Order: sequence, then structure tokens, then C-alpha cells
Amino acid sequence: MTAPTPLIAGNWKMNGTGASIAEARAVAAQLDGRHVRVAICPPATLIQRMSEALAGTAVLVGAQDCHSEESGAFTGDVSAEMLADAGARLVIVGHSERRAGYCETDELVARKARAVVRAGLEPIVCVGETLAQRKAGKALEVVTGQVRGSLPRELDRKPYSLAYEPVWAIGTGLTPTLPEIEEMHRAIRAVLRELFGDDGDKPPILYGGSVKPDNAADILHAAEVGGALVGGASLKAEDFLGIIRAV
Ligand code: 13P
Repeated sequence: MTAPTPLIAGNWKMNGTGASIAEARAVAAQLDGRHVRVAICPPATLIQRMSEALAGTAVLVGAQDCHSEESGAFTGDVSAEMLADAGARLVIVGHSERRAGYCETDELVARKARAVVRAGLEPIVCVGETLAQRKAGKALEVVTGQVRGSLPRELDRKPYSLAYEPVWAIGTGLTPTLPEIEEMHRAIRAVLRELFGDDGDKPPILYGGSVKPDNAADILHAAEVGGALVGGASLKAEDFLGIIRAV
């Protein structure tokens, strides 16, 4: 089986206004056609404008979350269908900031992933252990459990990716060692094969958590690492391009 095309996705989190679209344009303008997919996931308010600004370029626009239902009385929420209508092609679900801050369970994350597929979009399903869980020797158990619980059957034969983001590595400048990253990515791949057979080899498994231009090459060339989900370093075109060029 050939390796999945690497994906480098930027998660802007709650950052960016209209003026920031210039950074996304600068990324698109400098892509050099290497074998990599690039996505930027801005706040929901920018999806439509960014999709229009990046039309015809190689940069895909994504969203950071969605509701599991298509429409209804859910004040403040946005459905996957609405994100598709605004121009999004991918949707991050199950980010640890949502699992922790909004009590999102594996079961809810699976429903959201199903909603993303229903809307014809591609989910990026996030998993990752806390520092306490890693220190207790439970990282593998926690993360493989999240993978089993957060992936709906509907993903079978659909494009999607996993993102392993250790909670303690997000925004801290800390990263696991390369052997720790490889161990986790191999364990995730084994669960994908168990769930989906040979098709479990297809989705790229991204690493996320303090990926910067200076550590990107090592991380991206580690075994079973199929790309990166980048937070802070995706906000500036030069930094994000430095990571893309490390593929
Ligand atoms: P940082 O790259 O800022 O550590 O954030 C990672 C992340 O949470 C991406 O989803």
C-alpha cells in the first residue's frame, strides 16, 4: 500500500479577522507543488471569505468544529452542511480544547465525524492524552480507546485523517520524543487496521503539538507520521511554509 498523501493543516483556533486572510494568500502564493495537501482552518467567521480568496489555489479551507445535526434549534452552533456551503472541505472534530472545555465525549466526537461525512466533507479526528495520563503510563491505552470510540463506521472508504495531539504538547513548546511519537502512531495505525481492515492503512495520521519549522522535518519523517496539525505556527505564512517545506 502506498503511503497516504501527507496533510499539513493549520488550526487558527480563535485567532484572525479579515486582515489575516493575507497570510493565507501568502501561503497559497508560495506553495511549490510538492507532494503534500495543505489546509487552513480559520474561525468560522472567515471560512466563506477565505474560501473565496483561495479559490483556484492548492490550499484547502477547513473548519474547527461542527454540530452533529444538520439544522435545528441549536443557538450559536454551525452544522457541517453550513460549513460545506461556506466553502469548507475539511472539519476538525474532537480537538482536546473542545473535549476539555466543552465536555465532548468520544461518542459525541463520533457523531460529529459522522455529520462531517454526511455533508460530504473530510473529518480530522483528534485524540491525545494529558500529562497525568502519560505519567501514569496510560497514554497508549487512553489514545487507542479514544480512536476506537471516536471513529464512526461511516468513515469506512471515506477520506479522513487522525491527529494525535498530546494535550501537554499543545502551545507549550514541549513535544514527545520521536520514539514516543512513533510508538503512538503505530498503535493508532494498528487500531485503524483492526477497525477497517486494509483500508485502515489509507488515512494519514497527523502529529500535532508545538510543531515549528525547526522541529518539523524530524517529526514529519518519523514512522507513520503522515502530516501535522499546526496551531500557533500556522498563523504566520513564513512559519507555516517552513513546516510545509519540511515534508
Ligand atoms: P500548537 O501548534 O500551537 O502547539 O497547537 C497544536 C494544536 O492544538 C493544533 O490543533
